[in-house]
Amino acid sequence: MSLNHQQLFWHQAQVSKERRNNLNDHNSCVIWLTGLSASGKSSIANQLDKYMYSREIRSYVLDGDNVRHGLNKDLGFSPQDRKENIRRIGEVARLFVDAGLITIAAFISPYREDRQMVRSMFPAGDFIEVYVKCSIDVCEQRDPKGLYKMARTNQVKEFTGISAPYEVSEKPELVIETDKQTIEESVMQLIDYLQTHGYLSYQEP
Ligand code: ADX
Repeated sequence: MSLNHQQLFWHQAQVSKERRNNLNDHNSCVIWLTGLSASGKSSIANQLDKYMYSREIRSYVLDGDNVRHGLNKDLGFSPQDRKENIRRIGEVARLFVDAGLITIAAFISPYREDRQMVRSMFPAGDFIEVYVKCSIDVCEQRDPKGLYKMARTNQVKEFTGISAPYEVSEKPELVIETDKQTIEESVMQLIDYLQTHGYLSYQEP
């Protein structure tokens, strides 16, 4: 039997996001890291998560490689599949933000339109787009998974930066240049942004 959406009802939560944020004593948001494979997204995400934990801030990392092992294991790397990948992650991130978590999403998310779609799911200020900038040459030299090498010999198809596009962010909230600074410096830059914009303490809406 197919599901008729008109038969679905939205149950209003008894505990709002604001009350959860008040309890946690910090605001929730999504930090959306976008950039080429091997640009440093996962390293930054995990270091930031560790820092949050040490400060008793509730956070969680959603990562491309991990999510594609479970929730999105039915998806490949065609533009349509990447769009669906990003849409699902956006929905998951929305639930996590509603649950009061600083949600750190690390996905290549190469298409501007798809990032814009996720942005539009959130109220202004809850979506922080961070462009993890690193030249393709440096990413290819790093090549921690050997995928660039495989892409060059056509063993991996539609590889971002080689045989599939990466559309640079036009107006990200933050740009982090990982080919010019260490991971620690990049993480500090992000923490500094979150601090100066009031995310790390509770702010009345
Ligand atoms: S996205 O484009 O849909 O946002 P996502 O971040 O989920 O990509 O997954 C990227 C990871 O999948 C890469 O870090 C890499 O390990 C792996 N991967 C496998 N094939 C490809 C490909 N064709 N293009 C990019 N990444 C790939």
